[in-house]
Amino acid sequence: MLIAQITDFHVGRIIETTAGPIDLYHRLLEAVDHINALDAQPDLVVITGDISNHGREEDYIRTKAALDTLKMPYLIVPGNHDHRQRVRDIFSDHGYLQSNSNFLNYTIEELPLRLIALDTLDPGQHHGLLCNERLQWLEQTLSEQPNKPTLIFMHHPPAPVQYPYMDAMNCKNGDKMKQIIEQHRQVKAIACGHLHRDATVNWADTLLFVTGSSAFSYDLLMDEVPDIDPVFEPGICRLFYWSENTGLVSHLTFIGDYPGGVTEGVPTPPKSTP
Ligand SMILES: [Fe+2]
Ligand SMILES: [Fe+2]
Repeated sequence: MLIAQITDFHVGRIIETTAGPIDLYHRLLEAVDHINALDAQPDLVVITGDISNHGREEDYIRTKAALDTLKMPYLIVPGNHDHRQRVRDIFSDHGYLQSNSNFLNYTIEELPLRLIALDTLDPGQHHGLLCNERLQWLEQTLSEQPNKPTLIFMHHPPAPVQYPYMDAMNCKNGDKMKQIIEQHRQVKAIACGHLHRDATVNWADTLLFVTGSSAFSYDLLMDEVPDIDPVFEPGICRLFYWSENTGLVSHLTFIGDYPGGVTEGVPTPPKSTP
């Protein structure tokens, strides 16, 4: 089974650069094209939040229209820039979002890997939050299937990654989540977004993957800084491959065209003769 993760589209934001404005909606279209053209087609795409930059209805509508051109099903997890009820309303054909719960937590049960999506949105805040209600839901949900290999998706990283500016706005109560995860060894990995950089952490006796944005990055800033500016690097799509034989394997692919470099057509240098 192959799952693709893309994250942090921020549709609705236009970033000024010295080369002119970049409309992040176009970066979303590139990400969709990238996944549709992958040699190994994912069975499913998971989108881990900050879908829109301002939570505006019109941005969700055009984002949904683009995502609906994916060749495979996709799942939505909200981020701090998202509006929970608008996500629920506009992705109204996504049944897993249509519960009576206060939160967009859900599980996907019918795959070889069990998927758990955690809603870490704390409205009006850039940090995330796992309140007692959400922590209890996680504990109960994990207890229901202790032997099924499980992958958790959430927007905010629940642990610091030596990126002080963003660590200050990661998921509150990550220490309480850690205690729960340590009791449930079926959790093969946790996958987040929010950082706009890639990082991997050995956390809670499992792997925590923080996946960079498909739209834009921030510089790697491991010291305290007062502010950060966006930079443009290749957009990222993370793949999770799962089989009984390999266990969980993760690869990155990079969105965009990168001509040049070594090709099969480059002649091999002749061996030197004595
Ligand atoms: Fe973001
Ligand atoms: Fe975020």
